[in-house]
Parts: sequence; C-alpha cells; structure tokens
Amino acid sequence: MVAPLKVGIAGLGTVGAEVVRQIENQGRLLATRSGRAIRVVAVTARSKAKKRDVDLRGVTWAASPLALANDPQVDCFVELMGGAGDPALTAVETALRNGKSVVTANKALLAKHGVRLAKLAEAHGGALNYEAAVGAAIPAIKTLREGLAGTTIDRVYGILNGTCNYILTRMEQEGLSFEECLKDAQRLGYAEANPSFDVDGHDTAQKLAIIASLAFGTKVAQSAVYVEGISSIKPEDLRAAEELGYRVKLLGVAVRTKTGIEQRVHPTMVPRTSSIAQVMGVTNAVTIDGEGIPPITLVGPGAGGAATASAVVADIADVARGLRVPPFGRPVAKLRKTEKAPMMRHEGGYYIRLMARDLPGTAATIAKRLAEQKISIESIVQRHPNGAPDPIQGRGKRNANAASTLVPVILVTYATSEDGVRQALQAVQRDKVITGRPQVIRIEKN
Ligand SMILES: NC(=O)c1ccc[n+]([C@@H]2O[C@H](COP(=O)([O-])OP(=O)(O)OC[C@H]3O[C@@H](n4cnc5c(N)ncnc54)[C@H](OP(=O)(O)O)[C@@H]3O)[C@@H](O)[C@H]2O)c1
Repeated sequence: MVAPLKVGIAGLGTVGAEVVRQIENQGRLLATRSGRAIRVVAVTARSKAKKRDVDLRGVTWAASPLALANDPQVDCFVELMGGAGDPALTAVETALRNGKSVVTANKALLAKHGVRLAKLAEAHGGALNYEAAVGAAIPAIKTLREGLAGTTIDRVYGILNGTCNYILTRMEQEGLSFEECLKDAQRLGYAEANPSFDVDGHDTAQKLAIIASLAFGTKVAQSAVYVEGISSIKPEDLRAAEELGYRVKLLGVAVRTKTGIEQRVHPTMVPRTSSIAQVMGVTNAVTIDGEGIPPITLVGPGAGGAATASAVVADIADVARGLRVPPFGRPVAKLRKTEKAPMMRHEGGYYIRLMARDLPGTAATIAKRLAEQKISIESIVQRHPNGAPDPIQGRGKRNANAASTLVPVILVTYATSEDGVRQALQAVQRDKVITGRPQVIRIEKN
C-alpha cells in the first residue's frame, strides 16, 4: 500500500474551497487514477472563523501559510491565495526548499518569480505545477509542455481574459459602448470593482509571459510583453470589423520573428472564420501553431471555482503519481534569456480609423503620407456621417461648405511595419487633415 499524498491548502476562497470539495467528492476516482489516495490534512486562510461551506473536520488549521509550508506532515503545498508577493512567495519558496511539491493557480507569482521558483523546485526535487494559472480548466500548460514536447512552436496566442472577451462580445452583439458593458460585467461579477488589471491587458500579459516561456524555452518575463487594453475600442470599430470580415478580440500573442520572440497583448482583428473568432463571452482559448501541424485551438472556461479547481486537482494528481517535469519544459539552465522584440519592428496588417476633415485634398494627403512609408492600402472607406460606407476614391463633389464636417475614414493596410504606420499617422496629424487620435488595431491572420 502506498501512503496517501498529504495535501496542505493555503487559501480557501473561490478556488481553494472548491479544491477541498473536489478532493472529497472525487476521492475514489482520484485514488484509482493516480494510484494513491489524496488527503487534505491541513489548511489555512486569513480568517479561521469565516463560514466556508466545506467539511474541514479532522483537518489541521495552520497558523499561517508559512507554518503550513513548514508542516512536516504536508507532502504537497497548494497555494491558492494569489498575489506576486507575500505571503504566497515566501510560503511557496519555503515549501519548495523543504522538498515539498507545490501546486498553484497564481499567474502573478509565476509571471514574476517563475524562474526563481522553478530553480528551487529543481534543486530540492519537488514538482511546481500551475496548470490553473493560464486558462483555468483549459490544459494549455500540459499541452505546450508535454503534449507538444516534440514540436517546434512558431506562435501561440489566445483569449486569456474572460472579462475582456465578455465586454467585446456584448459591444459587438448589442452595439453598446465599452463603459456600458464594463458596468454590466461588474454587476454580474465578471469584472472587479477596479477593472484596470483586466481591461488594460495586464492579466493577459501575465498569462502570455508564462505560455511564451513554455512555447519558446525562454525565461518567463512579464516585462518583455507589450501591452494595450481594450478601453479605446468603440462600437464603430466592431461594426467596421464585421464589414471587413473580422472580429475584434483582446489577444495575447507570442511569436517567433526575425528580430526575436515578440510578446504582445492588444486588441486584434482576427478573421471571422477563424477558430479563435468563434470564442464568445467569458470563454478563453489558446491557439498553438506548431511546425508541420495545423493550428491547435483549445477552448474552455478560463475562470470560476469549479473549472479552476479541476486543473488544480489534476496537478495534485500528477504529484501523487510521482510525475516530475521541469516547470517550464526544460531545466532552468537551458532556458534562454528573454529579449524583448521591439514593437516598432512588428510587421502585420493594420486597421486604421481616422476622423478626417471633409475637405478637398484630405484623401490625397492621407494617401501620400502612407505612400511615403511604403504602406500599401488594401481598402479605404469613407463613411457618411450617417454611418453608410462610401468608397473614398472616385467620390463625387464634396460639400463646399463642410469645412468643419468630420467623416470617419477606415483604412486597412497590407502587411507593413508598426514604425511605418506610426510615422505616417504622426505626419497626417501634423497635416491637420484629421482630428483626435487615430484608432489603430493590428490584424492577426490565420
Ligand atoms: N477565481 C478564479 O476564477 C481563478 C481562476 C484562475 C486562477 N485563479 C487564481 O487562484 C488563486 C485564488 O483565487 P480565488 O479566486 O480563489 O481568490 P479568493 O476567493 O480571493 O480567495 C483567496 C483566499 O486566500 C486567503 N488569503 C488571502 N490572503 C491571505 C493571507 N495573507 N494569509 C492567509 N490566507 C490568505 C483568503 O482568506 P479568507 O477567505 O479568510 O479571506 C481566501 O481564502 C489566485 O492566484 C487567482 O489568480 C482564480
């Protein structure tokens, strides 16, 4: 008889309490699948008095996360408190130093201290499993690290934040503003009271940094990720995207380029027919482009107690099985330094929406500035102020009295450089043929 795996859980919130429940409810199945019983022997949280709706009879209450990490009866320390700093960091480091395995759902901790923690795990022989940190129940980590161990990966990208995808989906389907949809997301509990971590793209950036490391064998580094959020997206951009055959998603993209590994988070136009474009609402997805194989897209719930706990429990089962894999897919010594690919050298198609002055010569000026940067235009559409599209070239006589009339002009470019686009738009702004800031959305082809 193999002794049961003894688990200590720090954090009994949405995820932690559900992990206790699932281990209790799935005990027999887990024991059969992992060849060993799994028992929660000790827990801790901020408040011992809080009612938690889980059965903790016979389970030790540790005085602190650190005490739990030092508890000799615990084989596997499960960190479900969150945050890149203490108490999570010191408790996880202590558990690893004590030779315990660690399971966590904490993307912030991994994105900031992943390499240091992986080194400790390696040195002391414990596992460091974190499947739930990216895409919750979607097995993205295992797929990249183990399922595709023999495949060279060229690009990995995904919808990694349910709040943003929910907002963009509602904006598109109901023609609502960003602000209206954000309020609804907060009311429904999909967005935090302070939503900036989600809507400004930082949550996606943390997750992207983790999967980029697995995909490209580089040291996880959130600071190498270029980040833009979704708050500038307007319903008219989503309408234009639809007419052009695209959908707008907040994507995290990590891709091998001539200038290094590009890691970027920004609103992105994706072809409406692509798998990733079908992912609506709070659902998450990860697409992997591997050499010699068609893209693989994994879709599923990226948050929620039960979904996240299922990945945590699977990681605990791996510990029970005795499975040890390098946390980032290769020994830490073999992880390469992460060079931040300069965003200015990014190459791709661009959607550009300008508020142009309805005056003779405006179109010619815009076209000239783009041509100076060798930007080829795939399409250019000027809208009537009532919203109907009207091809700008060959448009009839302009309204001579319309000196102050503004009309939206939408341009789609062929693949070009970020630097060229920015320079051309700065020149157009200097020419004063447009007002306000141009809206720029990058296009990601299949
Ligand atoms: N919720 C999701 O859908 C989801 C999805 C993917 C990943 N995750 C990750 O899972 C982790 C947990 O998330 P959650 O949603 O379960 O958070 P949560 O509901 O806020 O729960 C946090 C838990 O940690 C405890 N805690 C916080 N600070 C502590 C401290 N200083 N000492 C001891 N205990 C402390 C809290 O204690 P009290 O209960 O006493 O306050 C609570 O039980 C985070 O890393 C999060 O990013 C969550």
